[in-house]
Amino acid sequence: MSTPTRIPPERPKLSLPELTAMKQRRQRITMVTAYDARSARLADEADVEVVLVGDSAAMTVLGHDSTVPATMDEMLVLTRAVARGARRPIVVADMPFGSFQVSDERAIDNAVRFVKDAGADAVKIEGAGPMLTRVRALVDVGIPVMGHLGLTPQSVMLLGGYKAQGRTAAQAHRFYDAAGALERAGCFALVLEAVPPPVAARITDALGIPTIGIGAGADCDGQVLVWHDLLGLTPQPVPRFVKQYADLTAVIGTALRAYVADVRRGSFPEPQHTYTMSADELERFESELAAGAARRR
Ligand code: KIV
Repeated sequence: MSTPTRIPPERPKLSLPELTAMKQRRQRITMVTAYDARSARLADEADVEVVLVGDSAAMTVLGHDSTVPATMDEMLVLTRAVARGARRPIVVADMPFGSFQVSDERAIDNAVRFVKDAGADAVKIEGAGPMLTRVRALVDVGIPVMGHLGLTPQSVMLLGGYKAQGRTAAQAHRFYDAAGALERAGCFALVLEAVPPPVAARITDALGIPTIGIGAGADCDGQVLVWHDLLGLTPQPVPRFVKQYADLTAVIGTALRAYVADVRRGSFPEPQHTYTMSADELERFESELAAGAARRR
């Protein structure tokens, strides 16, 4: 087995201005989702800049059909784990549906829990329009906010399903204007999901903050993929914007079937998987059992 390249632990945490500087240097930003400490550490060791604790966890980890059922309590548990694993990457917690839409106060209370109790560096919220005051309110209390436009999965019913957005001039223009408004409201970065590449490119050019694309083409300042999609853990069919870099479904399936077969035929565990006991102790144990049995007779 090859040893993964290890990033020395002393590498300092990335800062948000460093992401902006990467955009200015035209250096692409990498972001992945993660939902546990080990995955976050692997992302860190692979030199990923941003780890998103996506509310996609509702689907990938918790088995729901959409992201809507994700709760604050669930997202807090996952964010704590990711924050323990990720040292250098910026950890962004996705605010779940219902945790920020109701009022600025509610959004602040919940975002504070992510940052103060769970160790997130920033939060992400979907949408613009009425959400602009949320962004301002969060930034005003010192919580960095990542925006999210295009296919916003928390609004999947309103959008008519998981489909590309911004494909008409009017819709594209709305996203263009909304992107500018989110930047002015204080967002430090913006996810663009499932929008045509030329629209994402124009938005990227117009903004000073980095855009992170998912299904938005190569001209965004960075890219994000969902952990399970990237590693081939998502059941087929996957969205067209997914590139699978591994087939862990096959790897895990093969390993589990081998384990089941070994246990059933008695070839696991082998002596090297077990613990020894001195002959004296074993003899004492056996004679105590024998004496106990004799007394009961
Ligand atoms: O929840 C999530 O994983 C996301 C990404 C797709 C950006 O919002």
